[in-house]
Amino acid sequence: SLKVKNDLKEKRDNAFMGGGQKRIEQQHKKGKLTARERIKLLLDEQSFVEYDAFMEHRCTDFGMNKEKYLGDSVVTGRGLINGRTVFIFSQDFTVFGGSLSSVHAKKICKIMDQAMVVGAPVIGLNDSGGARIQEGVESLAGYADIFQRNVMASGVIPQISLIMGPCAGGAVYSPALTDFTFMVNDTSYLFITGPDVVKSVTGENVTQQELGGAKVHTQQSGVAHLAFENDIDALIRLRSFINFLPQSNRDEAPIRTSDDPADRIVLSLDQLVPLDNSAAYDMKEIILATVDERDFFEIMSDYAKNMIVGFARMNGRTVGIVANQPKVAAGCLDINSSVKGARFVRFCDAFNIPIITFVDVPGFLPGTAQEYHGIIRHGAKLLYAFAEATVPKITIITRKAYGGAYDVMSSKHLRGDCNYAWPTAEVAVMGAQGAVKIIFKGNKDINEKEAEYIEKFANPFPAASRGFVDDVIEPKMTRKIICQDLDLLSTKKLKNPKKKHDNMPL
Ligand code: COA
Repeated sequence: SLKVKNDLKEKRDNAFMGGGQKRIEQQHKKGKLTARERIKLLLDEQSFVEYDAFMEHRCTDFGMNKEKYLGDSVVTGRGLINGRTVFIFSQDFTVFGGSLSSVHAKKICKIMDQAMVVGAPVIGLNDSGGARIQEGVESLAGYADIFQRNVMASGVIPQISLIMGPCAGGAVYSPALTDFTFMVNDTSYLFITGPDVVKSVTGENVTQQELGGAKVHTQQSGVAHLAFENDIDALIRLRSFINFLPQSNRDEAPIRTSDDPADRIVLSLDQLVPLDNSAAYDMKEIILATVDERDFFEIMSDYAKNMIVGFARMNGRTVGIVANQPKVAAGCLDINSSVKGARFVRFCDAFNIPIITFVDVPGFLPGTAQEYHGIIRHGAKLLYAFAEATVPKITIITRKAYGGAYDVMSSKHLRGDCNYAWPTAEVAVMGAQGAVKIIFKGNKDINEKEAEYIEKFANPFPAASRGFVDDVIEPKMTRKIICQDLDLLSTKKLKNPKKKHDNMPL
């Protein structure tokens, strides 16, 4: 009837305003967009289909029955990013500070359930004052309902969290369970307990940003994977990020047409590795020169910089890149870089994304700090991740591949499909200097011995003569060879033994 039609329009307009004009202005004053503005920027134009715009909270305590907002404090639904479906929830800070009511949680659970059924990513835009204080334990139940779904969805559909405001207490664990957590500089923070509680318990004086801002989590804690300048920058970058991912673990890594020839010869690579084997060079340059159109989406670029991870494309197909960075700590593996690498490798493996590994690693970082904090346990994670991965694995040793770290970095022995060495490669138990000091202890002709050791071991041929690398290739041919291999490996079938789940070292 006409009345329902008019009511509907009024209700929709109402829902559209969230917590009202005044609070929208406050949100803008803080340099933040509203929940709906964010969705609009993230999704393809006109593609958003909203769910549950009319849901309202059911709380009657503390006068809450008099204060209701249509849709409550989160906007949920689905839409398209470059034509592909994603499910989305966007917390609305203008309604009770985006706090999580039971209804808010139910709305999120609904889209997560549907995303699982149809096989599409879930993106969460977090901006929330935490549990709805007036609802008490109802709200805690809501969090747990979301956590359970996060865990069930892990490895089935990509889950991405973008923190665009407060995210504290129990609220942090949903982002922590998702595959990628991104933040916005200055306006977002993540912590278990806020500055006031910290002050009363430990006596420490810290600001919100010092405790859990984007800098802390992308540089120090490793909780977040990237930080963006502002809301607009974050949403635009998220659009290009999602292009790399498959819709679910049922799909192959996406392929899109590329103008960059698969057989492009990359002459610059022939000169890139310095002849002096202790001189540093930038591994990122090798990655950029090799992948399609120099387009590399680096993940955790400010954390454990001795390891580089990120997404790129080869002949249009998404690949995960893992690489040691000789420019930072000589490319040593340590606790943080091992964990960073392991998590990335596992994501790629779960979502059928081939892994390309560039190796220049002098070993694991020595020292009490590393040993006391469990480098053995954490280094094992990276080894474990590479060993269990059944996606196509291609490895290029550009220079050093020493000791246990050689084994770890997607070696032939861990079921590497195609393993190559550049002529500059040195596959050995350790560096020549150290090796000679040990085996020729006290010998006067140490320099001579070192030269002998280098000739014998510090080159790619000991590995090549045993089939531990399939070939020694000219650097300039690397792109062409990887592209050929990826075509070959697109029909790779390999399964791990059936088990309830594994018991990876944590
Ligand atoms: N439950 C219910 N309402 C909440 C809320 C929560 N957890 N967090 C914020 N709100 C409400 C505020 O009452 C305020 O309502 P109003 O617009 O009617 O005045 C509105 O959201 C905005 O909050 P405000 O405190 O004015 O915003 P701010 O930007 O100054 O501060 C926070 C944001 C998140 C730091 C602050 O609101 C806060 O500390 N909230 C509580 C956090 C918490 O302890 N949560 C529970 C544990 S998980």
